[in-house]
Amino acid sequence: MEVFFIYKNFKFFEVEQEKILAYFVLLKAKTVIFLYIERRGKMEFKHVPIMMAEVLDGLNIKEDGIYVDCTVGGGGHSLEIAKRLKNGHLYAFDRDEDAIAKSTQTLSKYLDKVTITKANYKDAPSILKELGVEKIDGFLIDLGVSSYQIDEGERGFSFVHDGVLDMRMDREENVLNAKDIVNTFSYEELVKIFQTYGEEEFARNIAKNILLEREKKEIETTFQLREIIENSMPKKIVFSRGGASKKVFQALRIYVNDELEGLDKVLEELVNLLAKNGRGCVLTFHSLEDRIVKNVFKLDSTECICPPKVPICICGHKASIRLVNRKPIVAGEQEQKENSRSTCAKLRVVEKL
Ligand SMILES: C[S@@+](CC[C@H](N)C(=O)[O-])C[C@H]1O[C@@H](n2cnc3c(N)ncnc32)[C@H](O)[C@@H]1O
Repeated sequence: MEVFFIYKNFKFFEVEQEKILAYFVLLKAKTVIFLYIERRGKMEFKHVPIMMAEVLDGLNIKEDGIYVDCTVGGGGHSLEIAKRLKNGHLYAFDRDEDAIAKSTQTLSKYLDKVTITKANYKDAPSILKELGVEKIDGFLIDLGVSSYQIDEGERGFSFVHDGVLDMRMDREENVLNAKDIVNTFSYEELVKIFQTYGEEEFARNIAKNILLEREKKEIETTFQLREIIENSMPKKIVFSRGGASKKVFQALRIYVNDELEGLDKVLEELVNLLAKNGRGCVLTFHSLEDRIVKNVFKLDSTECICPPKVPICICGHKASIRLVNRKPIVAGEQEQKENSRSTCAKLRVVEKL
């Protein structure tokens, strides 16, 4: 922090952190007025891996084992997995080209035991098959977006940074981006997206105002959308929610990237690939994805799935995994204090029987 100008009782000072420069003015002893934030150049890829110790413990890594990181991101978790391998191998996937570039850099010392592929993790089982991998000793899925994707304004994921509404994780994929959706979808379609994927209680009002605003001018940026959302709900909600736009932005991101579709199927496939005693770890960040993971793991860890009234088992269903923890693991107090992303994270760990 640097005080750069003092005028009468006012002190003007700046705080520089990473690529952000913030200017404040200090009026009296405790009154600080925030002036503005300046972005300086392109952000570094910085993502603090969530529940690192718990994930490593959950994977129970064997030095000769075969591991799969479905969402390599900046390579934080993968680096620690790779360090623990001797003759083993790690297959890492991500659908975002920036994540592939960054993780390749992070894992540069270990590329003899790591294979990084740009792909949707839904294709991971078939890619592994093509590579001749028949059994794996562990998999990790760390769902959602990385801090980098959120912090990089031009990716359009965040209501905190101004940028074109994009939100595509894979920008090479020919899919609708958030701007297309907001400007072309009907009122009913928008309401459904905001309610289903964001559980947004003001979905109707927000959709109505989006339609009104886009008549006047195309909605191009994250800040334009944020303003519409904030004007669609009572002011006291805007101030009390801490990120009034969070639910709508989450909903659009999930829809654009089709995040929930097929998650259950790929979990089943990965569980099938696990060798005896192999481990699966999944980190989720909201109830919609956690529910899917919980249901798949519950079904796969249940011996018989006959209706309760049937006296003798006729389903023949056998448990293929056991739940290592009955309840999901949450981040410790210290981690929650230091990394706000960890506060809503849930880790589920299973072991193949
Ligand atoms: C929370 S970050 C992972 C961070 C990583 N564990 C680390 O330590 O750096 C989630 C990553 O998953 C990727 N991702 C999300 N959905 C995906 C999908 N369907 N297929 C492949 N990657 C996906 C995102 O692009 C993002 O890089």
